Amino acid sequence: MKRLTVPRIRQRKGGEPIVMLTAYTVRMAQLLDPHCDMLLVGDSLGQVIYGLPHTVGVTMEMMALHGAAVVRGSYHAAVIVDMPFGSYEASPEQAFTNAAHLLKETGAAAVKLEGGRALAPTIEFLTQRGIPVMGHVGLTPQAVNILGGYGVRGKSEEEARSIVEDSVAVAQAGAFSLVIEGVLESIAIEVTNKVACPTIGIGASAQCDGQVLVTEDMLGMFERVPKFVKRYQDMAGVVDGAVREYADQVRSRSFPTEDQIYAG
Ligand code: KIV
Ligand code: NA
Repeated sequence: MKRLTVPRIRQRKGGEPIVMLTAYTVRMAQLLDPHCDMLLVGDSLGQVIYGLPHTVGVTMEMMALHGAAVVRGSYHAAVIVDMPFGSYEASPEQAFTNAAHLLKETGAAAVKLEGGRALAPTIEFLTQRGIPVMGHVGLTPQAVNILGGYGVRGKSEEEARSIVEDSVAVAQAGAFSLVIEGVLESIAIEVTNKVACPTIGIGASAQCDGQVLVTEDMLGMFERVPKFVKRYQDMAGVVDGAVREYADQVRSRSFPTEDQIYAG
């Protein structure tokens, strides 16, 4: 099967819902690829893989290395790489240089960047120069030091209006799709109705044009997850059980057995 392209994703507006999950490693990409339309190499890898307190510390090098691994592990889904904090905000030129570097190093189809109206000129600059951009509005984790946390966005009338305006600006600037994270459902629905590109919800609404989750969250790798995460598996429990059994067997010398040794 041919890899999904950005234009084909864009055409899915209002159609069959778009399935997206995060991936950071080759084996996980291989497992997710048959089921997903897009794989996001999210800067959430800062917390998930590197144990950072938030995504502000994520580097271009991390995104390039993990992005390349995910492209190598997939052949069907479109791969999108997050631009890390500090790599795109200063100017459209800075954004282009770093986005081009990420696409060259990884072979990904597009980049994602966080922000609203202020980033619209940058999104237009990249899109007109061969780099497709996925937007990200609402709860934007790279702005944690401004927002002061990861609470739901759009509770006041003013903030709700601001998120809708940001979304429209990002879409009009040429974003091929738009992640809406952590907002009141009414906002996600209004944005989905207003913008021409597909919206991808996370903590948003089932009426978005697609959904995304952090894979390790939905697999149950973590004790604590946001309200918007549905756990489809208890991976932490599965790993704990398997490792407990291994440890017991090593300590009791019941592993390895004949099956796992080279007799002779
Ligand atoms: O970094 C990430 O995983 C993301 C998604 C949650 C949208 O940006
Ligand atoms: Na991200």
